[in-house]
Parts: sequence; C-alpha cells; structure tokens
Amino acid sequence: MDKNKNEKMEAIVSLAKRRGFIYQGSEVYGGLSGTWDFGPLGVSLKRNIMNLWWKMFVQDREDMYGVDAAILMNQKVWKASGHVDTFTDPLVEDLETKQRFRADHLIKDAGYQADGLSLEEMTTLIRDNGIKSPNGNPLSEVRTFNMMFKTHVGPVDDESSISYLRPETAQGIFTNYKNVLDSFYPDLPFGLAQQGKAFRNEISPRDFIFRSREFEQMEIEYFIDPANWESEFTKWVGLVHDWTDALGLPAENVHELEVADADRAHYSKRTIDFEFDFPIGREELLGLAYRTDFDLSNIQREAGKNMEYTVKGTNTKFIPHVIEPSFGVERAIMAVLSAAYTEDEVNGEKRVYLRLPEHLAPVKYAISPLLKNKPELVAKAREVYDILKKKHGDVMWDDNGNIGKRYRRQDEIGTPFCVVVDFETLDDNAVTIRDRDTTEQKRVNISDL
Ligand code: GLY
Repeated sequence: MDKNKNEKMEAIVSLAKRRGFIYQGSEVYGGLSGTWDFGPLGVSLKRNIMNLWWKMFVQDREDMYGVDAAILMNQKVWKASGHVDTFTDPLVEDLETKQRFRADHLIKDAGYQADGLSLEEMTTLIRDNGIKSPNGNPLSEVRTFNMMFKTHVGPVDDESSISYLRPETAQGIFTNYKNVLDSFYPDLPFGLAQQGKAFRNEISPRDFIFRSREFEQMEIEYFIDPANWESEFTKWVGLVHDWTDALGLPAENVHELEVADADRAHYSKRTIDFEFDFPIGREELLGLAYRTDFDLSNIQREAGKNMEYTVKGTNTKFIPHVIEPSFGVERAIMAVLSAAYTEDEVNGEKRVYLRLPEHLAPVKYAISPLLKNKPELVAKAREVYDILKKKHGDVMWDDNGNIGKRYRRQDEIGTPFCVVVDFETLDDNAVTIRDRDTTEQKRVNISDL
C-alpha cells in the first residue's frame, strides 16, 4: 500500500473519531477487536445511507417487499444453507506465539496470489516461499475455521439448543419467501429486501470498519423465472451502478470484477464483485450473485415444505431462481467517507473537509450567531434555527469558538451550509450563507431559506 494512501486512511479514522462519527467498540475497556460504535454523526450518516437504499429499492418500487427477520434462527437453517459445513476461512497459526491469521491474507501480503488455492496448496506455497507470521515466526499448516458465532438458545447447553448469530441476513428472507407469497400473491419477478446486523468471527478483522465481526447488511433476494436469469442479472448490474451514483461515488472508482468459478461462494453460479478504490486499495464494496434455486430447494428438501411458485392462471409450477445484490453498510460508509475526504487551502491555511453529498450529510445546516454574547443576535439566530429545524431536521446549533473555527469544524463534518446571523440581520432580515465546497458567502433573506 503506498504511503499517501495509508496516510489518507489514518486521517479518515482520526477524523471519524475526533468528530463523533465512529469509535472503537468497548474502547473504555481497551476495545473489542472487530467491533465499532457509531457516534452521533456516524449514526446519522449510516441512517441516511440505509434510508436512501430502502427508498430506492423498496419504497419506490412496486415489485419489492420489506422484511425484518430474527437474528437467531433454527440451527436447521444453517445446516441446509451450507454455512455449517462450508462457511469457513483458511487459518494459520504462528507456531511460537500461537496467534492466528488468515492464510490468504498473509500470502497476498507477501506478494503472491491466493485466490482459488486449496488448503494444501496454500500450505505448500507458505512453506516453499518461507512466508512467516507478521511476528517473523514459522507458520502451521493451513486449516479451515468456521466463521459463525455459536450460541445456545434457552437454558440447556446441548446439541439441540445450538444456534448461531446470523452470518448473512439472506436466510431470513428465504425462510419468509413462502409467507410473503401466501400473504401478497406477487407476480414474478419480485424481491424481498432486508436490512440488519450480521456477524462473522473474522480471524483477523482489519482496515477500520472494512472487515469487522459485527456489521450491517442490506440484502435483496430477487425471485425470477430461471429462463430470464441472464437479463435479470444484467438489470441488477445497472441498478447497482445507480446505487453507487446515489452514494456520490465517482464512477471511475467503481469496478466490476467477474468472480472466477473457484472463488465464488458455494451457492453462486455467477458473481460480480463491485469493487471500490478505497484508500487501502481496490476492495469489494458489494456483491451481486446468481444464487439459482440453491436456497429454496434446500428449504423444500430439509423442511419438507413446497417452495414452488405457480404461474397465475396456469398449472406451470417451478422453484424460482434468485438474483442477490448484497450491500454492506459499513463498506458503503467507508467508501462515502473516502470519496468525500478532501484537503485544500483556504487563505493560505490547510483545510480538511468532507465533500459529502447533501442528501447524506449528517448536518445540512449549522446556525450561528456571529457573537454568542449578544442576546439580540442569539435570539434572532434561534428563530432561524427553529425555522430550519422544522423544515430539514438535520440542523445544528453551533456557537462554539469564533466564526472561523466554526467553519473549520463544520467543514470537517461535511455540513454543506453554515448560516450566520449578524448585526445587519437585525435590520434587513437576511443572513449569510457559506458554501462548504467553494467557501463563498452570500446574503439570503430568512424567508427565502
Ligand atoms: N448474502 C451474501 C453475503 O452475505 O455475502
């Protein structure tokens, strides 16, 4: 990774903490690796992103239905889905410290290709090329590690009470497909959408919120007639680009990677990874998979329930196939922050600002009295604050420090507009509005705000 990119990542992590976007989970107790907490501005940004997604893919469409399934599910779900047997990562152990690492990450970090290699091939590659642990010690053979968090439901700890924190929200959709079919009788194609937490016991969580153990997914299972899978898949490629555009991500930084047979998840017949040029390098932002009838057929077989769809007015029955766009919220946040983070110079001084799209910015307007010790200015500014708060909601009162400091602070959190009430306001009922990106200021009448 080149140094500048590293520095940019560090600057974003530091800003995110300093300004109340994202904190290390359980930080006060020394942290819990792979967990992150969202502060007041982070949660606003996160909600803005999730609400935008819900609007685009559920509310604005006739063919989509929302669900919100339980995180804990019957253990049979994860046996039938293949996660108990195959949801694994390759693990190696430092033979001296006993610390554990992702084998494919160490291989890639050493400059070799790890995609598609079997466990034995990874072991051989590590041995033949003298790849060591980050502590400089020899490594064990590569073995598999199941990434699901296991728990027990109820007061008895036996085989029958085992459950897992869901590693994907998708199964909560598949298990409700029949319920929605029976309640709403939708025509194919139709989709079920869900947002919610998912959990993966990552061997080595890293890169800020990019790879964490608890994260938020936004997933769609789009049920189709298998005869149309290629055209439906192509439509979703276009819709995914609409989404990255809506996030304000520059098109030239979004890339499609056709995932090779050996590297696809066990359920997928075709996958495109949409990658983004993060400061840590080009990495997966979201995935689009053709899951065929893998999941519904498994449920039909294991649960003994009919998952077929009957084409209305006919006797034609089949198990629908599925196109799955799967979006990670934290990765979207990291991409949005990376694209927005900007450094420039204003009046000879270095400035840092987040060029967030207006619809995603946690604060849309910051309202200030020019001087906070002048009651008449404060009263007028409060009037303006109340008007904008009612209209826009995402409005902040800011009278801390001098006006220059307020601008810098608001720039750092990506507030598009700062509104200042000064002595002239008392005469002409107009305020100064400063634009975050250009730093230009103009006078606008309060009634035109
Ligand atoms: N449902 C796909 C994934 O979680 O990656």
